[in-house]
Amino acid sequence: MLTREENDLLTQTGPGTPMGDLFRRHWIPACLSEEIPSADCPPVRVTLLSEKLIAFRDSNGNPGLVDAYCPHRGAPLFFGRNEECGIRCVYHGWKFDVSGKCVDLPNSPEGETYKDKVAVKAYPSFDGGGIVWTYMGPADKLPPRPTFEWLDFGEDRRYLRKYLLRCNYFQAIEGDYDPSHGFFLHSTLDNNASNPGNRVRGGNRLNSFLNRKHNQVEDTPYGQAHISIAQFGEGANVAQVSQFFMPSFTGSGISGPNVYASNMRVPIDDESCFHYRLRWSYEPFSKEQVWEDKYGGYTYPEQIPGTFLAKENKDNDYLVDRIAQKNYSFTGIKAFPIQDLALVEDQWGARADRSLEKLVTADQNIIAVRRRLITAARALMEGEEPSGPWNPDAYRVHTARMTLPDTLSIEESVEAIKAQTRGPVTLSTST
Ligand code: FES
Ligand SMILES: [Fe+2]
Repeated sequence: MLTREENDLLTQTGPGTPMGDLFRRHWIPACLSEEIPSADCPPVRVTLLSEKLIAFRDSNGNPGLVDAYCPHRGAPLFFGRNEECGIRCVYHGWKFDVSGKCVDLPNSPEGETYKDKVAVKAYPSFDGGGIVWTYMGPADKLPPRPTFEWLDFGEDRRYLRKYLLRCNYFQAIEGDYDPSHGFFLHSTLDNNASNPGNRVRGGNRLNSFLNRKHNQVEDTPYGQAHISIAQFGEGANVAQVSQFFMPSFTGSGISGPNVYASNMRVPIDDESCFHYRLRWSYEPFSKEQVWEDKYGGYTYPEQIPGTFLAKENKDNDYLVDRIAQKNYSFTGIKAFPIQDLALVEDQWGARADRSLEKLVTADQNIIAVRRRLITAARALMEGEEPSGPWNPDAYRVHTARMTLPDTLSIEESVEAIKAQTRGPVTLSTST
């Protein structure tokens, strides 16, 4: 559990908050590149870290992220004309380029000279991996651009979709560091079993989780590595690593051989966030994988057209099917990501009060991630800058899972699995 003060520190990311300042030391996703698909396209509204902005693309194709309101008298730039390398406010014609500079101030005789003294708030941005990235911090702290491995890959090796989540960003993240929930929330029933512990599919794996031999959290320049080792059948262990990337990205789960899952949760405000859900691979995806991602609805639930909201959402109780719940599924909710959504969007509300929690050993990795973020935010308040953004190569790691002979020591197993987090997996894996 956290104190109320710690909970506020963890979950509030608006301007001037300690966690907001920490986010503002990192490049974060602002929107999908396809939301502003071409030069001089219509601007789109973007709310990020509780700041109202608009994104647009200038005549040269460069993305821009500027204040939603014109500095003249606060008119909405969303209605602006995006023309000739700038966005022009339609109230009195002031025009700004992607750097925020006022390039035309036509409604007043002093405009030609006064325009040099006027600017709209603008944040640096660039396209990478299908995302418009932005940096919202002080100009003198601008770090190098991120270099996630998947940013090197073309669209045949990555698939990305964005979802609106109506809860705090950290609530959404916690599920990725919650190793016991999958045995319940994401399970189906075995109606032949009389023992409730065995009614969860994968009951043996639950036992192997409960009897884990080793669980280790390592602080790293990019965030944290979480390493676990558990008995897996006769004479074998399963070793796994997942990552937490500052400020709010996770590597978690492996969807197939050399297919990795990355999740980026970016605060819109303190009670909603966008989830950038990414699968990527060193090899081009198979046709089946592409079909499943685009139309299968299981990994990437269908969305209401024209929105980032899943069709199964809070307003319709995620279409819970109580008959399926009685007979087949632990939840009665169809797709994995929607099962998560149903729980995380309402944990004592959209921004949980963690002072009420009763935590147990199964929650220890969640506790570790909270500590990493809170410590970094407090350090920044004391003037200590985070090192992660200045070490983009450290972020070039991914999850790994493999079976190993149980004759290896814990130390040897930890070293073996850590070696699999860079580049394609070289040893046999078990998913
Ligand atoms: S309010 Fe934008 S030009 Fe006047
Ligand atoms: Fe989950």
